[in-house]
Amino acid sequence: MYKIFDTHAHYDDEQFDIDRDELLNSMVAAGIEHVVNMGASMDGCRDTLELIKQYPFMYGAIGIHPDEVGELTDEDYKWLESNCTAEKIVAIGEIGLDYYWDTVDHATQKEWFVRQMNLAREKKLPIVVHSRDAAADTYDIMKAEHAGDIGGVVHCYSYTKEMARQFMEMDFYFGFGGVLTFSNAKKAKEAAEYIPMNRIVIETDAPYLSPVPNRGKRNSSLNLPYVIKTLAEIKGLSEEEICNQTYENALRLYRIQK
Ligand code: NI
Repeated sequence: MYKIFDTHAHYDDEQFDIDRDELLNSMVAAGIEHVVNMGASMDGCRDTLELIKQYPFMYGAIGIHPDEVGELTDEDYKWLESNCTAEKIVAIGEIGLDYYWDTVDHATQKEWFVRQMNLAREKKLPIVVHSRDAAADTYDIMKAEHAGDIGGVVHCYSYTKEMARQFMEMDFYFGFGGVLTFSNAKKAKEAAEYIPMNRIVIETDAPYLSPVPNRGKRNSSLNLPYVIKTLAEIKGLSEEEICNQTYENALRLYRIQK
């Protein structure tokens, strides 16, 4: 059995309320060595801090998702600032721009993206970038803010390979998950083929984006072997090589010393 690193999940989500403890306790025996639980809302960040205290194999990220930044206050920012240095917090995320759901006006999304990026810079943490239907603005802001000096990952990468080249110039990593197994995910497959193996990490985004054959159901890290198998086919490598390389990449991305 290989070592698997899930670089992005939301186990604080209420969909896990019925069996969270049982599920998380089954992870290590299934080869899931580490999971990074993402902050997305203020409540999600507080829950993340609790989860990583409870489960030794879990790390966490503190940050606010673009859909959730509409009501943020300076008080909230101060809370993020003082809690992102907690033990086992390895990134600022997920942060970015979402023009698909478009729940918050673009100026406010951009303001909090930049603000949280600067928090990451100040605390020397990488960023986890969420970007949907906002490739050009995401890239322009990251370029203007010198995100290459901060480092991090573009999660659930689903833009073109040309765009990938630009994020690669900033030394960013790329997260691939369930979407890669969808038959209509032509762009994601092309990007995964193009991006060098030392820049790829795997993720679930659980409870969302379950891979085929469990598409549409609640996702968990236990589904990652389907993503690994697909990536192995795309790259022409063995599943073991995919696991080892993405595991090493995840440690490097999150600057975890083992
Ligand atoms: Ni997410």
